[in-house]
Amino acid sequence: MTSRTVRRVFMLGATGTIGQATVRALVARGHTVVCLVRPSAGAGGKMSAADSAHLLPGAELRFGDVTDPASLTRDGFRGERFDVLVSCLASRSGAPKDAWAIDHRAHVAALAAAQAAGVTQMVLLSAICVQKPLLAFQQAKLAFEAVLVDSGVTYSIVRATAFFKSLSGQLERVKRGKPFLLFGDGTLTACKPISDDDLGRYLADCIDVPERHDRILPIGGPGDAITSRQQGERLFALLGREARFKSVPVALLDTIIAVLGTLGRVVPALADKAELARIGRYYATESMLVLDPATGRYDAAATPSTGSDTLFDFYAKAIAGEASVERGDHAVF
Ligand SMILES: NC(=O)c1ccc[n+]([C@@H]2O[C@H](COP(=O)([O-])OP(=O)(O)OC[C@H]3O[C@@H](n4cnc5c(N)ncnc54)[C@H](OP(=O)(O)O)[C@@H]3O)[C@@H](O)[C@H]2O)c1
Repeated sequence: MTSRTVRRVFMLGATGTIGQATVRALVARGHTVVCLVRPSAGAGGKMSAADSAHLLPGAELRFGDVTDPASLTRDGFRGERFDVLVSCLASRSGAPKDAWAIDHRAHVAALAAAQAAGVTQMVLLSAICVQKPLLAFQQAKLAFEAVLVDSGVTYSIVRATAFFKSLSGQLERVKRGKPFLLFGDGTLTACKPISDDDLGRYLADCIDVPERHDRILPIGGPGDAITSRQQGERLFALLGREARFKSVPVALLDTIIAVLGTLGRVVPALADKAELARIGRYYATESMLVLDPATGRYDAAATPSTGSDTLFDFYAKAIAGEASVERGDHAVF
């Protein structure tokens, strides 16, 4: 680790799951953090300005519209100088139109405004799944990654593996005595889950770690890769119950995608639902690990790890009521 200089950081996506953790880490490292947020933030716009301020202690909040270049400059940067742009901004729905508007266009505008404000470095939260881009939101993320790489600013593109919230959606149903749902036999996919705070710290440290500059950085959490079946087995063990699984065929998702895709040609809202089903199918069949381009296989050993928080410790805390589970926007079950 190199010496740390206090920077003026302009932060996007601060009200999201990883955004909050990243602001905590940036503030803890002594940086000056200015966040551009929506007046009504959070899933469904349920968070007031005061709620956002409560969630982001130590950071300055400015209210504006990241999709509007004029607002970015007027309400966000305000003619001031900044050093670093950090973004955990992402479409909440993953629907194609929103993904292109947020993951791509808003980022392009924000980077231009940031460079005009003197920014010479950007840390971008991306996703490991863009290495096999089959979905609109992945294409939108990749398109901005390319803009960033060509921009001339020092970049760290952090392609994270699965978050705890995306792997905890079945906790409540299992607690209620229902079986754990699996695609196939539950070993089709694996991931190295990363906690919000471990990822937030990793993102914040990108500012000062030269080895993370001008790099695309796949990153997972500590320990071995975990399959869905192992997640279920651990949940039942922690609850002191015998494991019960129910297998869901992937072909069921294919049927849903085909039906919604056809109807979506007439009813646009159903086209978005078809895309959500495609997102579900993707996560049901693709691992969140580094893909070896030579073999086309996912490689747990080649997937770097950071941090110390484990998913299974998180499950134990959630069961004990010491941690709360936020449903992932793209959670399948
Ligand atoms: N879930 C996973 O397992 C996983 C794994 C790897 C990578 N990722 C990637 O990690 C990234 C962040 O994930 P997350 O779970 O932290 O996201 P999140 O909780 O959904 O937060 C998204 C952030 O973007 C902001 N945003 C979305 N639409 C906006 C708009 N129209 N205008 C202004 N702000 C907007 C949200 O603001 P509001 O609060 O105002 O809505 C929020 O601050 C995503 O790119 C995701 O693809 C996810």
